[in-house]
Amino acid sequence: MSRAPVEILPDHVANQIAAGEVVERPASVVKELVENAIDADASRVLVELRGGGKTLIRVSDDGHGMSRGDALLSLDRHATSKIRSADDLRTIRSFGFRGEALPSIAAVSRFELHTATATEEGVRVRVDFGKIRSNDVVPRQPGTTVTVRSLFRDLPARAKFLRTAAAETRAASEAVVLLALSNPDIGFRLESNGRPLLDLTGGETWLDRIEGLWGDLAATLIPIEGHDRDVRIAGFVQRPDAARPRGGRRYAFINGRPFRDAGLVRLVDEAFRTTVVEGMRPSMFVRIGVDPERVDVNVHPAKSEVRFRDRASVESALHEAVRAGLASLESTRPIGAAAIATPREALGTRPERDAPGSHADRGASAGGRTVGSSPSSERTAMPQMALFVSGREADEADPSGPEGEGASEAAFTQPELWQLHDRYILAPTRDGLLVIDQHAAHERVLYEEIMARFERGGGTAQALLFPITLRFSPAEAAAVEELSGLLTRVGFELEPFGDRTFILRASPQPHERFDAERCLREMVQELTEGSPLVDSARNQHERIAKSMACKGAIKAGERLSPEEARELFDRLFATELPGHDVHGRPTIVRLTVDELDRRFGRS
Ligand SMILES: Nc1ncnc2c1ncn2[C@@H]1O[C@H](COP(=O)(O)OP(=O)(O)OP(=O)(O)O)[C@@H](O)[C@H]1O
Ligand SMILES: [Mg+2]
Repeated sequence: MSRAPVEILPDHVANQIAAGEVVERPASVVKELVENAIDADASRVLVELRGGGKTLIRVSDDGHGMSRGDALLSLDRHATSKIRSADDLRTIRSFGFRGEALPSIAAVSRFELHTATATEEGVRVRVDFGKIRSNDVVPRQPGTTVTVRSLFRDLPARAKFLRTAAAETRAASEAVVLLALSNPDIGFRLESNGRPLLDLTGGETWLDRIEGLWGDLAATLIPIEGHDRDVRIAGFVQRPDAARPRGGRRYAFINGRPFRDAGLVRLVDEAFRTTVVEGMRPSMFVRIGVDPERVDVNVHPAKSEVRFRDRASVESALHEAVRAGLASLESTRPIGAAAIATPREALGTRPERDAPGSHADRGASAGGRTVGSSPSSERTAMPQMALFVSGREADEADPSGPEGEGASEAAFTQPELWQLHDRYILAPTRDGLLVIDQHAAHERVLYEEIMARFERGGGTAQALLFPITLRFSPAEAAAVEELSGLLTRVGFELEPFGDRTFILRASPQPHERFDAERCLREMVQELTEGSPLVDSARNQHERIAKSMACKGAIKAGERLSPEEARELFDRLFATELPGHDVHGRPTIVRLTVDELDRRFGRS
């Protein structure tokens, strides 16, 4: 290269270069313009697309608009009304703060800004690829409309990277979905080639908004809530029984700002472990509220990632919130109305690709602007036992419950239990009936007890009156040798006797009809040959705990004494995740009186 003198780039060239950071495709234009509308306190936002946004993008709002002077100034780089100093950046609550979006978009399109405030007449500014063409007084209602035509037309290198109109429409829809999800109070309408793709009225709760976007998905969500120091978590995760391997919606919002964070998504998946089989992708809608000083939103050109000062607090609050949600009875499978939902295509207008929300695999993103408020759902996770409590406290906890049942001091009333077909335990609750699978329930109990034993040490071996001699296949014998230390810790005391033979001197006694020999043989076989259950384990402790829980649990077909049923019930509700066995199946299904009333035509 020959040496050329140093010169400052003309503005429109500088803007085109800057636009490369901000404006990647029509979806980024949509995102920036809708964010501006939200920052302007709009109550309704209309987004119109033609040709996937390549032909036209128009975003109209009824926000506070701009004066003539501001409208012109807003097209200069670093012109912003949202911050005044670098310090303001530390406490930022608006979406915008760089003052770059409008000039960047105007640099790469035929751009028109039409805006008016409540007190001044409207102004319309036209810019062609960075050059201001006109600037006229044109009256309009207060608010702003930005129209973007011919995006990248004179930048073939950029235009080349645009995808089909359908793909661009999908990406733009997703941008609107994200912002609609984080702002349920605002009405959104999205049209593509004159056809409505989304129409969401404002003033909704968060759950309404999720339902507006994905229909029945909302009925499969359970509220989550948690906090750690000054971090607050609110939102929803999907009931484990409704989780599917694909199509899960995974959104995260920090102080109302959608962001992506694969690490937090992984953490939620992790919290679901043992309640769903491997590979499920339960939906999650997570709002994180934190002092704006404690998060840096200025780390990504499109602001889609953030950096937390105290990530450990965020992670622990989120983990706690999800685990508590999964521990609640609401996370168990209901019978009837709120059964498994198949998320319908948004709006269902046409089953074409345009429909918003094939968001599954891009990590997290979106949540209400109401920072860290409690979930907007009416439902609240209830401490397990409150379900079986009568008296004043319970009445307060559940005002819809039956009234006047003796205002005694929150006495814990043991529910009466029945065993059905030697397989299920039925337990009445305040609002219906629990049906407990005795085998699955005992699996959960054993699994958690064995894991706790591994952590704390100490076994519960009972010496056998008559030691049992066992001979294994060569592979099994090798596995027994290898695992004998861990087997001892769960209570199996084995003594090698040569030639693949072992003497079992002591065994655990998880229930009265426990068959130590059969359980051990089945376990050794499973641990040697593998199975979906043990192969999903993360380490040897989990492998053994899962196998032992599965093989050692009370089986279907065993008649339980009333005391045994009671003990199983109590121990189940003492576990961390009573509603879910270790295979990713439910231990409990719920039947509510409401559902019965519905079926009998009472409501
Ligand atoms: N729809 C709108 N209604 C009212 N004012 C607007 C609207 N869009 C933009 N503005 C004004 O124009 C300014 C510039 O907008 P622009 O999007 O370029 O920058 P920003 O939002 O401040 O920061 P960022 O580049 O981070 O988005 C804003 O600060 C705001 O004052
Ligand atoms: Mg902006």
